[in-house]
Amino acid sequence: MTQQHNEKATRIALIGVGRIGVGHGAALVTIPDIHLTICDVDPHRAQQVADDLATQHPGTTVNHATPDEVFAHPEHYDGIVIATPTATHEELILRCAAAKLPFFCEKPVAVDLDGTLRCIRAVQAAGIASQIGFQRRFDPAYAEARRRVHNGELGEVHRVHMMTCDQNPPPEYFVAESGGIWRDCLIHDFDILRWVTGREVDEVFAYGAVRGADYFRTHGDVDEGVALLRMDDDTLVTAHTSRNNGQGYDVRMEISGTTANATVGLEPKVPLVSVEPGVTFPDDEPWVDFIARFRHCYDIELRAFVDVVRGITPSPCPIEDALEALHIALAVGKSREEGRPVKLSEIRQH
Ligand SMILES: NC(=O)c1ccc[n+]([C@@H]2O[C@H](COP(=O)([O-])OP(=O)(O)OC[C@H]3O[C@@H](n4cnc5c(N)ncnc54)[C@H](O)[C@@H]3O)[C@@H](O)[C@H]2O)c1
Repeated sequence: MTQQHNEKATRIALIGVGRIGVGHGAALVTIPDIHLTICDVDPHRAQQVADDLATQHPGTTVNHATPDEVFAHPEHYDGIVIATPTATHEELILRCAAAKLPFFCEKPVAVDLDGTLRCIRAVQAAGIASQIGFQRRFDPAYAEARRRVHNGELGEVHRVHMMTCDQNPPPEYFVAESGGIWRDCLIHDFDILRWVTGREVDEVFAYGAVRGADYFRTHGDVDEGVALLRMDDDTLVTAHTSRNNGQGYDVRMEISGTTANATVGLEPKVPLVSVEPGVTFPDDEPWVDFIARFRHCYDIELRAFVDVVRGITPSPCPIEDALEALHIALAVGKSREEGRPVKLSEIRQH
């Protein structure tokens, strides 16, 4: 259970310490005046991660508890970070709302629209702060692209090409509970598209295929996908995704306007191979996964969340702001399943 060691400390419970949660723990523990409690459905894992963090960061306060122990004593905490599998988010968000605890939750909010709307309503009724983990909003290159678009430095934006491609597929247990490639993976691109362009998507069309592990088919998912999006100003967008991009982890966004282009991710570690004679770019080891590629963003977004908990800043990505990316992901999934263009107005419930 929690013990208060530092009067000034902000008391954060981190729930779920798997692939992403371990890194979130490492980011949180380096923030000054933090008292961190590690929770996991596997108590041995929680204890191991807490012990490792305390050893790696002497002088910090890290302990462990079960999620039930945390919610039994909400007065011992100032905020919750949820990094459990997507299928568990709704229950945990509803528990945060009942306990009136501000929370950060990994994307997506929930696996489906009804669950997401239940979470939004509960958060609004509780009047608590919320932040959803769209970490690209904290990346300097996406921020610069956004600035140039909003300042008119590209002229009129007509086309966007973007992608998120994993080098290796996630394990089957993750795929089973992920909500599928559009909601789990391309949802980042859908969110950042809105954030960078300031426009909304009007209609989508998508293809998907299973070209690798059979378990994607077992769970109604695909491991290769392409979506075409038409935005409300007729900007045309292509979004690619893959779970089998052998060259490396590839996240890029190319925004083309009438006077200039802005490209995110065109740097020495981009997993591209030029076959042009004499061209040596890119010349570094390619990115291998999201943890390496976005480490700096996870650190910044969690510092931002602690500032939200401390009342220093408003949330940079409140739960309501995560809804539209889910709408787009659902429209894209529906388009692939039904083999037809889908308007966003078919998905939005208002
Ligand atoms: N923002 C990003 O770039 C990014 C990247 C990867 C994953 N994610 C998201 O993070 C979440 C977790 O993904 P992951 O890859 O780390 O999953 P994971 O399966 O590797 O880890 C999940 C952890 O949560 C624990 N857990 C499961 N149910 C629990 C419960 N009810 N209470 C407490 N602990 C529980 C598991 O024991 C495990 O340690 C997912 O929602 C995923 O979409 C986001």
